[in-house]
Amino acid sequence: MDVFTAISQRSSVRAYKATDVEEDKLKKILEAARLSPSASNRQEWKFIVVKDKETKEKLAKAAFGQSFIAEAPIVIVACGTEPKAMMGCGQPAYTVNVSIACAFMILQAYELGLGTCWMGAFKEGETKKILNVPEHVRVVAMTPLGYSNEPPSEKSRKSMNQIVCYEKYE
Ligand SMILES: Cc1cc2nc3c(=O)[nH]c(=O)nc-3n(C[C@H](O)[C@H](O)[C@H](O)COP(=O)(O)O)c2cc1C
Repeated sequence: MDVFTAISQRSSVRAYKATDVEEDKLKKILEAARLSPSASNRQEWKFIVVKDKETKEKLAKAAFGQSFIAEAPIVIVACGTEPKAMMGCGQPAYTVNVSIACAFMILQAYELGLGTCWMGAFKEGETKKILNVPEHVRVVAMTPLGYSNEPPSEKSRKSMNQIVCYEKYE
């Protein structure tokens, strides 16, 4: 599968089969995160792989009851370990860096036939308590990982001319 096929065909998965994810596939997905680029090559990230049923159920509760998280055999929780570092442009580096790694993982998962759903709606404090995340570390995102149990959803996107302009901001 080429990259554009993965980008154009992937969609968020909110229903999962109980089927386990093969260990070699999980390793490849985590390797995609490990190889991701980051500002100053800081790599200030940590990915928590959760398989325990009870922990996944607690995470679903922390994610405002989005129960499909707990359906998936795996949940990956992506953390930024140095949240104070800023880039020259004034943006915090960790949110950008961790998000790039998550995007790479999601595309790699799709190529391997696995579904994901980027999750930003969760109570960070509760999530940190559940997973024993240190005070200074931030939780940026989480995603269930598993085999989809739903048809792919239709893509709804703005048109190209709504989002692209040339030479100057319009
Ligand atoms: C930063 C971010 C946060 C998101 N948070 C959630 C979430 O908490 N729950 C959810 O079901 N989907 C969440 N999504 C998925 C989006 O709703 C989804 O990507 C968008 O509607 C486009 O659909 P597609 O992923 O199927 O192409 C999130 C996506 C992103 C990028």
